Amino acid sequence: MKAKITVSRDDVISKIDDRIYGSFIEHLGRAVYGGIYQPEHETADDMGFRKDVLALVKKLGVPIVRYPGGNFVSGYNWEDGTGDRSKRPKKLDLAWQTIETNQVGIDEFQEWAKRAGTEVMMAVNLGTRGADEARQLVEYCNLATDTYYADMRRRNGFDKPFGIKLWCLGNEMDGTWQICHLTAQEYARKACEAAKVMKWTDPNIELVACGSSNKNMPTFGEWERTVLRECYDHIDYISLHNYYGNPDNDTPSYLAQAVNMDSFIKTVAAICDEVKAEKHSEKTVNLSFDEWNVWFHSSEQDKHVPRWSYAPRLLEDIYNFEDALLVGTLLITLINNSDRVKIACLAQLVNVIAPIMTENEGCWLQTIFYPFMHASLYGRGTALRPETVCECCDAGKLKDVPHITAAAVENADGGITVFAVNRSLDDDCELEIALPDGYELSEQFELYSDDLKAVNSLDAPDNVTPAKVMPNGERVISRHSWNVLRFKKV
Ligand code: AHR
Repeated sequence: MKAKITVSRDDVISKIDDRIYGSFIEHLGRAVYGGIYQPEHETADDMGFRKDVLALVKKLGVPIVRYPGGNFVSGYNWEDGTGDRSKRPKKLDLAWQTIETNQVGIDEFQEWAKRAGTEVMMAVNLGTRGADEARQLVEYCNLATDTYYADMRRRNGFDKPFGIKLWCLGNEMDGTWQICHLTAQEYARKACEAAKVMKWTDPNIELVACGSSNKNMPTFGEWERTVLRECYDHIDYISLHNYYGNPDNDTPSYLAQAVNMDSFIKTVAAICDEVKAEKHSEKTVNLSFDEWNVWFHSSEQDKHVPRWSYAPRLLEDIYNFEDALLVGTLLITLINNSDRVKIACLAQLVNVIAPIMTENEGCWLQTIFYPFMHASLYGRGTALRPETVCECCDAGKLKDVPHITAAAVENADGGITVFAVNRSLDDDCELEIALPDGYELSEQFELYSDDLKAVNSLDAPDNVTPAKVMPNGERVISRHSWNVLRFKKV
């Protein structure tokens, strides 16, 4: 197979917001307890955070981490996780039917984030709670005033405000599974009033309203329209969530799923603009794709986890090589939509549907770690629109899916990085990349395995890892492979 990618410096999509390489830590399973926090672990630091995990999170370079949920946040009282640890209440978490000890809360998490070199994207509880507790949390985190909640933070040992910039107005409130699920109109009113008082408390914050929990929600579209009509002037972003899976073992259809992500993004952006036009507004509401990943491997085993366990193994998907390819195509889609997607969070970061896994013996990296790391490291700068000419094929319901999907980024050093996935399961591809004059290939990485179902594990951590390809003039990218081609200016 042959393909050609043409990249022009004149065809700019957008400056990429680094926050599209964000991630997510929820109080769920072993994400916090036994994941980022394990005071008895040999690598634990003075606050009980695992240093081996911190080192790997730094390697991914995530600029933001959403916290503390997820479904968890809709039943969470943030005060439970503050102050003297010996007095913190142990509570039932109804979202995941587990026990929450509150040994980690916002005080510890913001400290962890600092140590990980990232920033907190904070979600407030709009399930069991509302505007009042949300504004109190903003005061606790961000204000230097001599008032009750700012003083409470100081008493807890944090003199300086945390300065959390980005806030989510609840989580997946359109889902009947959500604690205190709301109709679109109910959520729109609640979110609007919460947004107002949160911004009155700290006008520097940015707010993300809940969009749909996935593209197949029966209320998708109408939900966004209702929320945007009510909240438009008070919010900055609307969220999108979507998880992908291959439960029917139909790999061609699975690897084509980025087409659905692309149309999801474009539809939500169109609804934002429809409401903008209705309101004759100058302001553009952008998108926060703050939960995306593969999630299906662990669904069956999770049905057997006993209720009210403490930090059980939940949502511990073990990702194979084809999952990494899909993640690569989803990253490409986020970059190619970076004019509207300003925030995105790989859900999640540690142990729970995660690129980083922990055991007492050490950490290991899942297959999906690598495309995410490549995109986060080399996908910063300005997204250029690549013109890709290649063969297409039908994949299940999706027609004319291109075999090659690519993104191009002009990096700060003037170089250009091209990310490309060859979705063909059979054919290597002779790839021509036409760049402006004066660029030469300086570095190339490939993630490839003969076995689409190959996985990593604690015992075989390097089963699927990227290889550095020696630039040799020939541009052949393997069948079913993820590729990073870095060009420098000469
Ligand atoms: O990331 C796991 C869960 O998926 C989150 O808690 C929820 O928001 C979504 O349904």
